[in-house]
Amino acid sequence: MSNVRPETMERITTKALADKFIEEQIKEVRAQVGDKKVLLALSGGVDSSVVAALLIKAIGKQLVCVHVNHGLMRKGESEAVIDMFKGELDANLVYVDATDRFLDLLAGVSEPEKKRKIIGKEFIEVFADEARKLEGVEFLAQGTIYPDILESIKAAEGKKAVKSHHNVGGLPEDLKFELVEPIKLLFKDEVRVVGEALGLPHAMVYRQPFPGPGLGVRCLGAITRDRLHALREADAILREEFDINGLAEKVWQYFIAVPDIKSVGVKDESRYEGWPAIIRAVNTKDAMTATIEEIPYEILHKITYRITHEVEGINRVLLDLTPKPIGTIEWE
Ligand code: XMP
Repeated sequence: MSNVRPETMERITTKALADKFIEEQIKEVRAQVGDKKVLLALSGGVDSSVVAALLIKAIGKQLVCVHVNHGLMRKGESEAVIDMFKGELDANLVYVDATDRFLDLLAGVSEPEKKRKIIGKEFIEVFADEARKLEGVEFLAQGTIYPDILESIKAAEGKKAVKSHHNVGGLPEDLKFELVEPIKLLFKDEVRVVGEALGLPHAMVYRQPFPGPGLGVRCLGAITRDRLHALREADAILREEFDINGLAEKVWQYFIAVPDIKSVGVKDESRYEGWPAIIRAVNTKDAMTATIEEIPYEILHKITYRITHEVEGINRVLLDLTPKPIGTIEWE
């Protein structure tokens, strides 16, 4: 498959068109890989999930999915990946809990780009370690989509990126695989239509974007386990309240960031020092610019009450009103 989307390629907007695309890709993938094994890093994001579901349909157990939990996932996320792919779809799934490897390496590192590089590099190493344990794998499947290809073209033309956004970069020299990229000519909205046609749950297909370095770029500065835990719990409350109040469907991206500062508070008539939880909720079309979602005060009050009462270590809740530009969507 070429890397250029033909002008004649119809936009996939309906189930019928998605079914046709799926049938074509099943044939193409089978012809490409024969009876060989294919490896896939399954993060649980929309793109890798759709590729996994498509390849399970095409080649079943010849697909080996590896889900690396870097310890920076949101609450319940790895469990959901395992339930869906191992449980429901009976996939060949290897689960790797690499939390300690990542958090040990990140201890004391406060510079954002350094944190990203450590996470990206370690991710490749953990994945490579798993790949070396497997026999007979000749192919690597990736959830590359068309904007990624357009982005690499821009990068090749020397345009500078604001942040390093790579998730799975190049694998080490000894691991040479042929790539399988069945959705590389699709735009995100088309990937979602295909995902639903494959029977993936709506919540998975319409999941808000989540950066490769995960909560690592939201636990600001040097990550500590206690602050990361507080962030994860606060974020789960925010997501729950957005769900209950119908905001999850409406808002493009929403999350909590927790900075490495403490303020003085009072709890049970005693001094209570804690971190602030910062709410960020933005809308955008392409993540290049973003506007702020105006969350009703009633909902903000409830979220504030729940986070400060339910999460150990958080004693304030703040709201980020900054559009992009000037703020980026993530804080790091
Ligand atoms: P920024 O912070 O640059 O984020 O305004 C724009 C969008 O990209 C997401 N993001 C990432 N996605 N790997 C990813 O896959 C990354 O390293 C990464 N960093 C930021 C961010 O969540 C937002 O949706």
